[in-house]
Amino acid sequence: MTEHQIATSVLVIGSGGAGLRAAIELAERGVDVRVVGKRPKADAHTTLAAGGINAALATMDSADTWQQHAADTIKESYLLANPDTVRIVAENGPRGIADLERWGMPFAREADGRISQRFFGAHTYRRTSFAGDYTGLEIQRTLVNRVGQLGIPVHDTCYITRILVRDNVVFGAYGFDLENGTRYVFHADVVILAAGGHTRIWRRTSSRRDENTGDSFRLAVLAGGRIRDPELVQFHPSGLIAPENAAGTLVSEAARGEGGILRNALGERFMAHYDPARMELSTRDRVALAAYTEIKEGRGTPDGGVWLDVSHLPRETIMQRLPRVYQTLLELQMRDITREPMEVAPTAHYSMGGVWVRPEDHSTGVDGLYAIGEASSGLHGANRLGGNSLIELLVYGRIVGETAAQYSTELTAQRRSRTALAEARAEVDELVAADGPENVRALQRALRNTMTAHAGVVRDETGLREGLAELDAIEERITNVGVHPDLAGFQDVAHAFDLKASALAARATLEAALERRETRGCHNRSDYPDVDPELQVNLVWSGPGRVEREKIPPVPAEIAALMKEVSTVGKLVE
Ligand code: FUM
Repeated sequence: MTEHQIATSVLVIGSGGAGLRAAIELAERGVDVRVVGKRPKADAHTTLAAGGINAALATMDSADTWQQHAADTIKESYLLANPDTVRIVAENGPRGIADLERWGMPFAREADGRISQRFFGAHTYRRTSFAGDYTGLEIQRTLVNRVGQLGIPVHDTCYITRILVRDNVVFGAYGFDLENGTRYVFHADVVILAAGGHTRIWRRTSSRRDENTGDSFRLAVLAGGRIRDPELVQFHPSGLIAPENAAGTLVSEAARGEGGILRNALGERFMAHYDPARMELSTRDRVALAAYTEIKEGRGTPDGGVWLDVSHLPRETIMQRLPRVYQTLLELQMRDITREPMEVAPTAHYSMGGVWVRPEDHSTGVDGLYAIGEASSGLHGANRLGGNSLIELLVYGRIVGETAAQYSTELTAQRRSRTALAEARAEVDELVAADGPENVRALQRALRNTMTAHAGVVRDETGLREGLAELDAIEERITNVGVHPDLAGFQDVAHAFDLKASALAARATLEAALERRETRGCHNRSDYPDVDPELQVNLVWSGPGRVEREKIPPVPAEIAALMKEVSTVGKLVE
């Protein structure tokens, strides 16, 4: 099998928004950079981000400030967000928007030219900028366009199987081409990991097939990195129930931001029982738990959902501000949302935890390895504000690009390891030759069933332990898979690596979820229904059976003063 050797100063793994933003920064600074990824760059996961991107521009509500954005973010993270990370994102948010504007992003605007901003759940002010409900798609297009102008090479049929490390210092990565199986050894001073989260390990998810399979977790841990808060997974309240093959497809929060109403099967506007002050614009964890509770207690629709209705809104609002929701429902269900409500249920949407990184530069503790975007951690804690992830990828994409440029420029020497390379090569050889009786797709399904049954919106000790036992059995079966690359390509090998990554991500999630013996934000433990002040810490997973507590720095007084108390009446667990 041909093995190509390529040298670059910086290798970016992942061609979504975070990876491209970092690459742009590097190229603009004159640093040699190359992007690799397993999905077409024009269709990266970022394109699915719908409703908007947050920054305190104060274009609609002049009282907004970055400090209030920070306060809202920390408050709604249930105090698990790192205040330094939050400050960096909130303070640099407007600059992220300005970068996009400079590169031609078509933001929605008011008649006088100001960028429009709308309400998203639990924000004090309107601070979510948008492009209809295609915000992520337009951001990705803007970044892809800029990448093209700068001539940055993007190899987006390249699956990375290992980050290459010697004595805790990165020297490159190993992978193969998805179409023809050609092997690649990338020699690089720096590797930036931007390969997304792990939400595809649940059955109902807003990620598409083969996306967000936990690749970043596996690559980071094998390289010597750690995972922070893997148990903190955001279930978005509104995922479609049908059709089965698209279950979990997102109905943007913008639907509620524009005035959409949630009802149970009895026609009751149930958010009145859970968060009467904020109703449908409550935090995602609360709306998701409310919908879950309604369904669980028998007030759900016949198909096991709740109704989300926008049909009372002017048709023009729907067509201009929710065009993707309109199209999606027509395409998937032949349902016209200007006339009928949608049937929705919680869907695994976002990994709020991820690779452990330092707030100042997203370095991972492995020299030369950085993580950004959904792959990383620190900003969201136990509940992410919708719209914060898109701004995070712009802010930290720039910062990590800048830091990586400096690291590479100052490097005086780098040593490689033949052993590390040989191990990476042998691992691919072994899978390509694997001819066991177990089927990769069936095991992916089994894993997703396990996570859905035991680590969903509501969890408990018994279920989590059952989940771990099932995972043991699945891992055993993974050693007997058959992998069959054929004339059509090497996707089957990629799926097998995805499966290994998902198994690692599932173990991290289950073990950390067991350790978090409390209910906080998205993490609902029916056996521990209260917040435990002792657990106002991050949980850091470094391998099977190893979960440690990490202290969180105090919230600066200036920000704490802006954090408003919200009643928790209605925060129900089974
Ligand atoms: O609902 C949404 O439009 C999702 C936005 C987000 O997750 O940030």
